Amino acid sequence: MNITVAIIILFSLTHLVDIQGAPSIRKNYFMFDAFDETADANFLTLKGNSTSLKGVLHITANTISEPEKLSNMSGRVMYSEPFKLWSSDDSNPTSFKSSFVINLQKEPTWNAGEGFAFLIAPDVSMPAESFGGYLGLTNAATDGNQNNRIVAIEFDTEKQDYDPDDNHIGLNINSVTSIKTVSLDVHGIELSPETTTNYQVWVHYNGTTKLMEVYMGRQGRRKPGEPLLRETINLKDYVNQQSYFGFAASTGNYPHIQMNCVLEWSLEVDALNKESDLIWLKIGLGVGVPAGVILLVVLCGVLYVNKRRRRRRRTSDEKSDVFDKSLRWLPGMPKEFKYKDVKKATNSFHESMRLGEGGFGIVYKGILNIENDTTATEIAVKQFSRDKIKSKDDFLAEITIIHRLRHKHLVRLIGKTMSAPRVPPFKPLFTWPLMDASFRTTESTVSTATLSPNGCSVNVTAEGFSSSPSSCL
Ligand SMILES: *[C@@H]1O[C@H](CO)[C@@H](O)[C@H](O)[C@H]1NC(C)=O
Ligand SMILES: *[C@@H]1O[C@H](CO)[C@@H](O)[C@H](O)[C@H]1NC(C)=O
Ligand SMILES: *[C@@H]1O[C@H](CO)[C@@H](O)[C@H](O)[C@H]1NC(C)=O
Repeated sequence: MNITVAIIILFSLTHLVDIQGAPSIRKNYFMFDAFDETADANFLTLKGNSTSLKGVLHITANTISEPEKLSNMSGRVMYSEPFKLWSSDDSNPTSFKSSFVINLQKEPTWNAGEGFAFLIAPDVSMPAESFGGYLGLTNAATDGNQNNRIVAIEFDTEKQDYDPDDNHIGLNINSVTSIKTVSLDVHGIELSPETTTNYQVWVHYNGTTKLMEVYMGRQGRRKPGEPLLRETINLKDYVNQQSYFGFAASTGNYPHIQMNCVLEWSLEVDALNKESDLIWLKIGLGVGVPAGVILLVVLCGVLYVNKRRRRRRRTSDEKSDVFDKSLRWLPGMPKEFKYKDVKKATNSFHESMRLGEGGFGIVYKGILNIENDTTATEIAVKQFSRDKIKSKDDFLAEITIIHRLRHKHLVRLIGKTMSAPRVPPFKPLFTWPLMDASFRTTESTVSTATLSPNGCSVNVTAEGFSSSPSSCL
């Protein structure tokens, strides 16, 4: 009974949020722990010279065998859906956090050039002739025009007249001439070194304080305590309410060329979800208490099956590490379950283990040894069946939302994703292991339980994540 109630409440809440016309909670979060040209086609728009190759986005193409051809390139890769950056009545200050891993390596015979940028833009298009110093952001005709409606963080490796040096980051508004720059030499960062060096960058924007902060460090290290760049900027003054996020980059004339690679990327746009969270909590109190639901401590394991072949299986540990890294700003470390264990727990998702069906998937009952393999715990597993379009951001949005729930009458996410091979047909999973022994339900209770058919509108479907990224080269 408790399992059922817990699930119904949680799922109903999402449903209510939806029908109340609250801000979409599905579009506020996405994450790529690697890239896949085919799988990402629904999510990313590539312009100019950009390509997606072997798990890596090359914002300017990579034909290293013929480096002269890398001259004068420019490209953009944008997330194909826009994000609403403030509410229409302006009551909601907008915040976002993005994190990405880049490799801007050069060969010893190259000079490095010209640069890379994280970009907020009004659309997914790219101006022509934006190579060289224009960084894929503007061109000779448009640079500085306030109709560009772009704000960018540049990672500049070529000194122009308006630049402090050839190794700096900057905050750009509608122009490649930055309103603020920070030289990186003193910080021990070389943007375009001769050895493969992956940097992780965090761009945080606080809609309340209007503070934009850029942190940067070697991949795998902790986020530095202090940002490299910190600047107050009211985004509303410069970009569109509906804006697109992505990357731009350019090379110059050979040998002023470099790699412009992105290996991982996540983005969480926060502002409008504050409303949703409140609604969740309010409804949670309203529904949870009358329903007589006693305190539930729920461990949510989030599982997915991605489309990778089985041969990728051995890399799955690495992959989940990458995923963990990307989730690092979510407080609390989720627990990991093996797909095969959950499959076993649900008797290969056998019909007899079926608890009910929701809007976008089937919920199964299962028994899993959660803590050090000694205690068997009943779990509920949701297997999602929606098509993969829009699924990745839905899935991640859902993790984020569920993860944030902190109320004694609501289930709490402390679960985590597990990498499993991507195998078609695509069937991501979402599990809800019920942890507290006192709430273990008897088999008969569970097997006769049904889920409200209309109440279930959690639309978590995962596109899955491709294999762990390799070097840009
Ligand atoms: C880069 O894009 C330009 C403009 O579309 C094109 O002319 C050029 O051939 C491309 N270069 C490479 C190496 O793909
Ligand atoms: C923005 O800054 C305010 C004031 O420091 C803080 O209370 C708030 O939590 C911040 N918001 C985010 C999303 O970090
Ligand atoms: C790159 O552009 C510069 C400036 O427009 C031009 O002088 C140079 O010839 C171009 N290089 C190539 C390889 O096209």
